[in-house]
Amino acid sequence: MTMDAEFYSRVAERFGGYFSDARSTDVFPDGRPDAAFDELVTALGAPQARLLDVGCADGRSLLRVCPAYGAATGIDLSPSMLECAARYRAEAGLAHVTFELCDAAHTGLPDGDVDVVTSRRGPLIAQEFERVLRPGGAVVYMGIGEQDARELKETFGRGQDFDSWNGRPLSEEVAQELSDAGFVVTRNQAFRFEEFYHSPGDLDTFLHQVPIIDNYDSAADEEAFDRYVTAATTDQGVRLSRHWFIVQAQKPTAVESSHS
Ligand SMILES: C[S@@+](CC[C@H](N)C(=O)[O-])C[C@H]1O[C@@H](n2cnc3c(N)ncnc32)[C@H](O)[C@@H]1O
Repeated sequence: MTMDAEFYSRVAERFGGYFSDARSTDVFPDGRPDAAFDELVTALGAPQARLLDVGCADGRSLLRVCPAYGAATGIDLSPSMLECAARYRAEAGLAHVTFELCDAAHTGLPDGDVDVVTSRRGPLIAQEFERVLRPGGAVVYMGIGEQDARELKETFGRGQDFDSWNGRPLSEEVAQELSDAGFVVTRNQAFRFEEFYHSPGDLDTFLHQVPIIDNYDSAADEEAFDRYVTAATTDQGVRLSRHWFIVQAQKPTAVESSHS
């Protein structure tokens, strides 16, 4: 297992999936990114269409959208997350969905096998996505933006994509990667939102669930954590500023390719 998969397996074993019981009140001035993602992916579905979700984790996001598809497969590198996914699938009673332990870089799927590839805060392997999609098929990617939890990372002096706020927007890098692999980018949409944790303990729990602060340790990081909480405490709770984005792209049809 890679370090990444080990982290997510620990999360699945501790919390029973890709979530925690951290309590927060969230404010979405740009709309909810997860709801927008589900809407886009559902709209691309059809009774004969095949969906591949890479980095599916506990599978709950795939299970929400898969009724719009004839067949759906979720892949992940974390066996513990996939065990949770199998449990959620059984609870949902959906037989046309499979979950497999598989690296998104080497899916082993035939060329042009699927109609839609999704990655929701999962890996982006543009060339493999292009290979497994049929001409005219779409990729929908949800990523974490360069401003995500910036004040928290600045306080800790480390974190996921630390310092990327000084570089090119991460959504543009994703769009560029997809273009370089031959896709036509059709959407690049930012979502800024605020989470207000009901107590410092809720924020602490959340930081164990996500890789925002790498190797987060409640004891070793106590000083930075307390400084952040002091600076970020509001009437509504402990504020965490989030930044996600959705990039959608299409694989050209054979006719479009021959003209380009
Ligand atoms: C942030 S979680 C996203 C979970 C889920 N898509 C969601 O939004 O709730 C990222 C997931 O990607 C998986 N992952 C990372 N690299 C991968 C790879 N190369 N192939 C397959 N899965 C991978 C991790 O194991 C983890 O479960």
